[in-house]
Amino acid sequence: MIDEAVAAIRSRTSLQPRAAVVLGSGLGGFADRVEDAVAIPYGEIPGWPAATAIGHSGTLVVGAFAGVPVAVMKGRAHLYEGHAADRVVFGVRVLGRLGAGTLVVTNACGGIRADLSPGDLVLVSDHLNLQGTSPLVGPNDDTLGPRFPDMTNAYDAELRALAHDCAARVAQSLSEGVYAAWLGPAFETPAEIRMIRTLGGDLVGMSTAPEVLAARHMGLRCLAISCVTNMAAGILPEPIDPEHVLVVGAQAQDRLTALLAEILPRL
Ligand code: HPA
Repeated sequence: MIDEAVAAIRSRTSLQPRAAVVLGSGLGGFADRVEDAVAIPYGEIPGWPAATAIGHSGTLVVGAFAGVPVAVMKGRAHLYEGHAADRVVFGVRVLGRLGAGTLVVTNACGGIRADLSPGDLVLVSDHLNLQGTSPLVGPNDDTLGPRFPDMTNAYDAELRALAHDCAARVAQSLSEGVYAAWLGPAFETPAEIRMIRTLGGDLVGMSTAPEVLAARHMGLRCLAISCVTNMAAGILPEPIDPEHVLVVGAQAQDRLTALLAEILPRL
């Protein structure tokens, strides 16, 4: 199935992406800046799961960004939509097979650490997989990667150093944090957020960990940038509004795009 999807994309464009970019909730604006773009609806790629989440359009955009060949997933599949874990990472595997050497993941998340505020962009330094599953469960496909892949440098330290340099160039502040991946679709309870904080989580969201597990399995280098769209449950005396999550994500898009415009040519 992966090879069929690769063939379908190759029949539309001969571009070989250097990087695969996954755009999170409300963060789709980056894709509009891709030049000579070939936009392929997910429904036209065999095996590719539809993106049904709000704020995810469901289009693969292949083209050049800041002179770099990229394949951009405008919308992703989440476990909470009911997809099996290996389906959630189908797109990442296809783009890896298509030749992307680096995966850049973005996401919207809740901020747990006290110094974080809505609108902040944060580099993911590591993750806690609290989703209770992994895309690597099941028979190992040796053509993708090894049975027991190492995750020591899952969020590549060199790429993080590069991202910090790039943030400084565009006068953006960028902290780092540990991303806790939650199954959802309900936001966490305040008690769960206290648990995650105790475990060392700074950020919480419902994506990213499966994609990074699959990408590392294939040997891609990974960089993940989170947009804090809200403070996590129980941190502030107010409920989490999913509409507001999208609004804050949309407000951060230009900063995210400016940062990626610095990073991508240096990959
Ligand atoms: N929790 C989980 N996922 C999220 C959140 C959150 O607070 N905000 C945006 N995505």
